[in-house]
Amino acid sequence: MRAASWSEMDALREGDHGARAKSGRDASIVRAEALTKQVTTPDHVLTIVKHATFEVRAGEAVAILGASGSGKSTLLGLLAGLDVPTSGRVWIADEELFALNEDGRARLRGQMVGFVFQSFQLLPALTALENAMLPLELAGGADAQGRARSTLERVGLGERLGHYPRQLSGGEQQRVAVARAFVTEPRLLFADEPTGNLDSETGEQVIELLFEMNRERGTTLVLVTHDAELAKRCDRRLHIAAGEITHED
Ligand SMILES: Nc1ncnc2c1ncn2[C@@H]1O[C@H](COP(=O)(O)OP(=O)(O)O)[C@@H](O)[C@H]1O
Ligand SMILES: [Mg+2]
Repeated sequence: MRAASWSEMDALREGDHGARAKSGRDASIVRAEALTKQVTTPDHVLTIVKHATFEVRAGEAVAILGASGSGKSTLLGLLAGLDVPTSGRVWIADEELFALNEDGRARLRGQMVGFVFQSFQLLPALTALENAMLPLELAGGADAQGRARSTLERVGLGERLGHYPRQLSGGEQQRVAVARAFVTEPRLLFADEPTGNLDSETGEQVIELLFEMNRERGTTLVLVTHDAELAKRCDRRLHIAAGEITHED
């Protein structure tokens, strides 16, 4: 049996995600203004992200590129509100992220943001199905189990629902992490080197999943990557060096 496409899955559900995705295109979905993150070490102040200013439009796929240690993960964590800046501002859609308190940021993330970490970050004591259900349960959504199951089927893990992370390969674990990030149907997906720990074939499958979401649902992608092929497929590339965005192409 062929797996249903994301848009077919949407059509099976209530709501009009397709229409929303289309009408929402071209609106700003992420905006950073003079975003700066410093940490204080015993002997000096280290600036990890310096005055980052840019905008991502709804439906775009944007890559963030830079050498190891250039501040990419820190920048992504700030954009998702997982970390707090020293100064500067971020808007997600119309909401100013750091004008909200931690609960407010968590609510906003739950409503519209998915995050895929390089190191998967699955909960070891939960099965694939339970890991994928978690964001829906936290949000109190209906039919968490059914929705998590169909999302796992979509990423090719319909036969692995009861497996624990240790019983899954790296590629399978990353697909569970992708399913967990997609299960709430976020408008915005951040992924930090999502293929960094995968072999090239498995990495390609994960990339396909991300771009299918982008194409079919208009999910905005902001991807940190070292992968030149992945970067090439994005609409734009932001280059970062020593914490500063140097240029885009
Ligand atoms: N909490 C922290 N305290 C001190 N240094 C940090 C902290 N977080 C990150 N760094 C440093 O900031 C730099 C950028 O880190 P990171 O954002 O992880 O880079 P990248 O993802 O581009 O490899 C690195 O040199 C890292 O060691
Ligand atoms: Mg990193």
